[in-house]
Parts: sequence; C-alpha cells; structure tokens
Amino acid sequence: MALKNAPFADISLDAFAANVAHAKTTLAVQSQLMVAVKSDAYGHGVAELSQVAITAGADALAVLDIAAGVSLRPVIPETPLLCWLLSPHDDFAAGAKARLDLGISSLWQLDTLSSVAPGMATRVHLKIDTGLHRNGALAKDWPGLISRAAELEKLGHISVVGIWSHLADTSLAEDRLALERFHQAVAHATEAGLSPKILHIAASAAATDLPESRLDLVRVGISVYGVSPFDDRSAEDMGFAPVMALRAPVISSDAKTGIVILGIGYGDGVLPLAPNTGWVIWGSTRLDITSVDVDQIVLHCPAPQVPEPGEVLTLWGDPALGSPRAEDWASWGNTIGDEVVTCLASHVERRFISRSH
Ligand SMILES: Cc1ncc(COP(=O)(O)O)c(C=O)c1O
Repeated sequence: MALKNAPFADISLDAFAANVAHAKTTLAVQSQLMVAVKSDAYGHGVAELSQVAITAGADALAVLDIAAGVSLRPVIPETPLLCWLLSPHDDFAAGAKARLDLGISSLWQLDTLSSVAPGMATRVHLKIDTGLHRNGALAKDWPGLISRAAELEKLGHISVVGIWSHLADTSLAEDRLALERFHQAVAHATEAGLSPKILHIAASAAATDLPESRLDLVRVGISVYGVSPFDDRSAEDMGFAPVMALRAPVISSDAKTGIVILGIGYGDGVLPLAPNTGWVIWGSTRLDITSVDVDQIVLHCPAPQVPEPGEVLTLWGDPALGSPRAEDWASWGNTIGDEVVTCLASHVERRFISRSH
C-alpha cells in the first residue's frame, strides 16, 4: 500500500446520492425532502454534497445562519435554501438579496427583515415552539407574530411560505402531542389571514417512526450521511450507507510489544475516548485502542505480526473492510453519531470519491 503521512476522510458521493434517493422514497414519501447541510454538511463538505443532494432528488436544503446560506447560494442558484437560526449578527439584507428562505421565530426578526429589505417579499417560515424550547415562538408570543407577519405580507415585505417546528424525539407520545400543538398554531395562523403552503416538523427520527409528522416537507440530516439517529437501529438497518470513511496512517509499530501508533488524534477532531476503549480493524484483526492522544492513537495489536509504518487503517465508515461505524465511536464516547462525523477537523483532507458525479 502507498505511503501516506496524514489522515484523510473518503467521502463517497455515490453513497450520499443513494441515501438521499432512499430518503426521498422512504422518509419523504409524498412530501418534499429538505436535506440539512448545516455545519459543513455535518463535516462532510457542504458545496460538494449540496450539489449531489439536488441531483439525487432533494427539493430544498437547509443551513443554520444567513452567512452560510449566502456563501452556498452561488453553488445552488435555484433550490430553496432555508436558514433556520438567525441572530442579530446576521445580515438580513444579504439574505433577502440571495433569495434565501428565512426561519423566523421573533418579532424583532420580522421587523429587521422588513426594514432592511422592504418590498422584496422575502420567503419566510414562521417557527412555533411545540415543546422542545429550542428556538421557535412561544405559544404566548404566537398571536403577535402571526398578526405582524400578516400585515407585512400585505405590504409586500415578506411572503409566509411555511410554518414549522422541531420535535424533541424523546418519545412518540411527546412527539404526537407536539404535532397537535403544531396543528393548533397553524389553525391560528390561517385565522390571522396567512396561507402557508409548506408545513414541516419532522427530522430523521420522526420522519422514520411517525409518518403523520411528514406533512408537506421533511428536514432530514443525519440519516442521509449514513449515520443512525436511533440507539436501537443502525443506519444500514434503515437502508442508509456510511458516507464518510476516516483513515489514518500507521506511523510506527513494534512487533515485540504489539504497540502500533496511528497518525491521528483528538487534535484532528477524533473523540478523546477513555483509555482502553474501542478498536480499529487491520485485515481480519481487531487492534484495541489503548489511548487517543492529541496527535496520535496508541493501539495494541494482539497478532504476532503488526501493520507496517505507512499502512493506512480505517477508523470508521467502511463496512466492506469490517471497520467500526461512526455509531460505534459514538457509543464508546457516550455521544451521538452526529458529533463523531461533524467534529472531524476541517484540516483533515476530504477526498470526494465518485464513479458517477
Ligand atoms: C431544526 C432542525 N431540523 C432538522 C434537523 C435534522 O435532524 P436530523 O439530523 O436528526 O435528521 C435538525 C438537526 O439538528 C434541526 O435542528
């Protein structure tokens, strides 16, 4: 195998395209599919994956803030692009000019937008809090928000295209209750004179397990990156394949002690696992992880032979090699798979691999 001296992540554009197409038929079903490409597409590479998502059937994309939306707009000039977390630091005028959809949960956001981008009929999605208490207008503030939105829509400043919320995904019973609250909020908005065409509340988990939450659009993130949102099912069980395979070179090895050093560490964004937790694969041999240090991982190889310096081992995401999955790292680190892939440092090279894109 060729000598490599730095870690890298293979990003399979084919796996991502297949996952998006699978999400479209199994999760969106009769709804539109919005693919979440926030946080640099969960650490995979936002520009490359956004284009593939659209080709594979995504109807819309979503990022967090306006700056992320503005920089992505030239890459995807036509597709609806929702920015769902707005702060006073965001440039609302730039957002309107870039024809972004804005997720609105407060009066100040409506007022800022209409004052800096008057008459532009900027597309907005009003967000109601249905119990998660993370962003979203509280029930007590909803009447004020929808009545101001109706006024501003009449004046041509905004166009209320959607109403949305986000579920806690802690239990189906909680989510059903949240869905009821959501429908009540939509009814109040209709009474206030609004006629939003796109109602949306479900992310990966609810779109999978609570079909009545799919409504007009589902916002799917982690599943299309081939990582499961559940503890009791793998992404493969759901028909999704890993998109990121993280690889690193062996930088030294000693057959006498079985100690093998991999050239990657938590300084590269790998989870700092507790000592003696987890493993990586070498052929058919599992090498136990002794420690994850800042710039290296110390492994112990039980076999009489050890991998040679320069050989590349896979930390996660290559089922054909029998490697661990990102979800395995998540369980070793007591976190979720989202963190495992998203935290990979930006200096680690992403190698986009595709036969068809
Ligand atoms: C508002 C919102 N919608 C959708 C998603 C996508 O969720 P998931 O990655 O679980 O599909 C997220 C993720 O954090 C979110 O915050």
